[in-house]
Amino acid sequence: MTDRWSADSYARNARFVADLAAPLVDDLAPRPGERILDLGCGDGAFTAMVAASGATVTGIDASPALVAAARARGIDARVEDARELAYAAAFDAVVSNAALHWMLPPDAVLRGVSAALRPGGRFVAEFGGKGNVASIVTAVVAVLDRRGVDGAAAIPWYFPTAAEYAARLEEHGFTIDRIALVPRPTPLATGMAAWLETFGGAFFSALPEPERAPAASEAETLLAHALRDDAGNWTADYVRLRFRATKR
Ligand code: BEZ
Repeated sequence: MTDRWSADSYARNARFVADLAAPLVDDLAPRPGERILDLGCGDGAFTAMVAASGATVTGIDASPALVAAARARGIDARVEDARELAYAAAFDAVVSNAALHWMLPPDAVLRGVSAALRPGGRFVAEFGGKGNVASIVTAVVAVLDRRGVDGAAAIPWYFPTAAEYAARLEEHGFTIDRIALVPRPTPLATGMAAWLETFGGAFFSALPEPERAPAASEAETLLAHALRDDAGNWTADYVRLRFRATKR
């Protein structure tokens, strides 16, 4: 599979992903000596925050480039597909920050997470929920449609409601401790073009190469009405789905 991620672009344009994750570490409450799996560890910036507790943390990610960046910061990171986890009661907790929306189908992921946890183990995560980046999705779907590509079919993300995801968690053997959809407008220090470059690759790759940059630029122009202020600052319309669940 092609690796669409660039560790440099991620470090430049996605630093906020880990910077905003302190509440998730608090929810996880990692303890020294616990075995914790970080699902979708990216470049390991968030994993390092969890490891600072003294827990033994393993990170997995599908991107070889991001796993290499995580290993460079001393994380035990592995290239693995979260839909094909093969761990059996190996972890006290599984955590995931801003990654589950990339992992489709969700049931394949939940099956593996449930098996990876010991009974009583916890699954604590935050990812994009219903309505996440809705303006961005609407603009990008429109620019793809205008170019004769089915934009809706190219949406690479899964943004469920709390009720839908809670039902899936329960089906896979979890008790829900808490789950909520939380709007979190997110300032983009490096702007919308950089966000689209870093996170929109899966979308724009549906177009022939020469059309990708003009399409991204058109999406940026459309989005300025909703997401850019008069001073030129961009804020993305993030909505987080946050939960803590316990394996029965
Ligand atoms: C998110 O964290 O919600 C997100 C990140 C990249 C693309 C889409 C959503």
